[in-house]
Amino acid sequence: MILPVYVYGSPVLRKVTKDIDEDYEELSVLIENMFETMNQSDGVGLAAPQIGKSIRLFIVDASPLAEDDPELENFKKVFINAHIILEEGEKWEFNEGCLSIPGIREEVKRKPVIRIQYYDKNFEFHNEKYDGIKARIIQHEHDHLNGILFTDKVAPIRKRFLKNKLAAITKGKVEVAYKIKFPK
Ligand code: NI
Repeated sequence: MILPVYVYGSPVLRKVTKDIDEDYEELSVLIENMFETMNQSDGVGLAAPQIGKSIRLFIVDASPLAEDDPELENFKKVFINAHIILEEGEKWEFNEGCLSIPGIREEVKRKPVIRIQYYDKNFEFHNEKYDGIKARIIQHEHDHLNGILFTDKVAPIRKRFLKNKLAAITKGKVEVAYKIKFPK
């Protein structure tokens, strides 16, 4: 089932999410719905707050980008109770977008190497290192779990430039090809 994506201005996007238990209600259905939602909106990542749930869960699927970047082949994963425990290296810029902030893309600086602890969809524990685009996608989604959006991280001068555009999204003055839910 395709779920509506909550957009900029929705309070749930600003909450710090909570860890979940293995017996979280209909978790596998939720994950399936999140993949369906992400795929039909051409996203490479989706965090639970973006579909209105304040829980520590996000998914990624960058395999459609593997044509340009072979390392992304099979990079399709579920991260439950994910915590980045280390970020290192010299920050690098990459052009980011977000399904919750339609029509806006900006350069964002982040560190290139991360270590993350999480549980997969079978609740198996993992402690893994990522770099490059994979780390970048994970960092963006992991930020959602802490109520942080990529527009918070752009240079101050760009922030000023974005202010009106972000306000327009919150008011519903934006055209989006996928199903969205505007803040009340
Ligand atoms: Ni996002």
